Amino acid sequence: MPDAEPGTDPPSGDEPVPVDVPNDDTLFEKIVNLCKQRGFVFPSAEIYGGFRSTYDYGPVGVLMLRNVKDAWWRSMVQLRDDVVGLDAAILGPPAVWEASGHLQNFTDPLVDCTNCKARFRLDQLDDPDECPNCGKRGTFTEARQFNLMFKTHAGPVEESASVAYLRPETAQGMFVNFANVLQTSRKKPPFGIAQIGKSFRNEITPQNFVFRTREFEQMEMEYFVPPDEAPRWYEYWCRERLQWYVDLGIPASKLRLRPHDPDELSHYSSGTSDVEFCFPWGWGELEGIANRGDYDLTQHAAHSGQRLEYYDQATNTRYVPHVIEPAAGATRTMMAFMLAAYDEEIVRGELRRVLRLHHRIAPYKVAVLPLSKKDTLIPKAREVLGILQPHWMCDYDETQAIGRRYRRQDELGTPYCVTIDFDSLDDDAVTVRERDSMHQDRVKTGELVDYLRERLDV
Ligand code: GAP
Repeated sequence: MPDAEPGTDPPSGDEPVPVDVPNDDTLFEKIVNLCKQRGFVFPSAEIYGGFRSTYDYGPVGVLMLRNVKDAWWRSMVQLRDDVVGLDAAILGPPAVWEASGHLQNFTDPLVDCTNCKARFRLDQLDDPDECPNCGKRGTFTEARQFNLMFKTHAGPVEESASVAYLRPETAQGMFVNFANVLQTSRKKPPFGIAQIGKSFRNEITPQNFVFRTREFEQMEMEYFVPPDEAPRWYEYWCRERLQWYVDLGIPASKLRLRPHDPDELSHYSSGTSDVEFCFPWGWGELEGIANRGDYDLTQHAAHSGQRLEYYDQATNTRYVPHVIEPAAGATRTMMAFMLAAYDEEIVRGELRRVLRLHHRIAPYKVAVLPLSKKDTLIPKAREVLGILQPHWMCDYDETQAIGRRYRRQDELGTPYCVTIDFDSLDDDAVTVRERDSMHQDRVKTGELVDYLRERLDV
């Protein structure tokens, strides 16, 4: 039996034995399998054979993804007085993308292998002369610039006047609403507009599960600053954003900040640094922090004919603010949290898989588990569930042996399990088991919320 029975402390001399889990393909496979088995992420349209590179977030994944976004919103909006939120439309007219430069510049170089017909991004090939699929050399077509935006038509008639695009980044919503937000929020530079939402890119080579998909979620903030303050704020946001991942439990050794080489910079950027995570296949981007200068506001002002600037009454001067943009991917970040949190150990001869997630990110905070399915325990267990649900997202599970239910919660990353046993009916107390140490405490039902609040709401 891998766990101590609820109500007893784990016997001494039974210390868990750590298992070495190398950061390689095996770990990646374990996470992909766990996602499917435990309801984090499913392949989209699976009953029809799937739809390449799209994924659905299951009952547990939707909670975790929401927690990632909430943690970002808390840090970027709730705990600050200089950032406000926005939720802009996903569909946009060509004028927006003309002005932003995406119609002209948001392209990847595409090559086809004339031998095996496989298609690649030229800039991602190790050897631009050799096909990684069939191994033939010199079989690539000339590179074509392929625009990554999804084009559609708004309304019933498919004509050029009805062309619309799905946004490839949330950022432009913030720029086109700059004047609206400035007027209504009473903010002045330095201030930011934050947004979380779906973006769409017709990626040539979607890959690595949810790392690069055609539909994904971004968490972006445009921080408008007086031009001479831009370098200082760029440094500030690089530091802040790196720290966010560390504070939520990713070891600093698995993160790095990498400044872009000049030839890597996006068409709008005068400087970008990526927060990178050490994925099983190597370092990969979680977030880019870019100094966008006055590019976007100047472009939209020129194309729309509207004034997009700030009038400083104190000095009677006008200027176009510069923009520092921390732009993160929510879906990609969720996977990084899972990879960083995954752990294995041997407990009393059995393998225990555990997601040591930060409690803010964990899908469920508490699981309520009646020791047995006997009718006598269920009303008490449901009473305890009713006490906890207003405070935290809880799971309730009355099936299987208690040890197996603990294991399931470990794999979901649930920080606390609350077990109701037959003594609970007499002493009005429950056993609380902590995920990482498996330590158990007996807690009076009336003190349970305070006990958990001390541990979860920090
Ligand atoms: N507004 C700037 C911008 O969109 P980006 O570096 O292209 O910058 C920001 O995107 C973040 O969005 C990336 O760091 C990544 O986390 C996420 N992202 C971009 N493309 C993605 C894709 N195809 N699949 C999943 N996430 C993606």
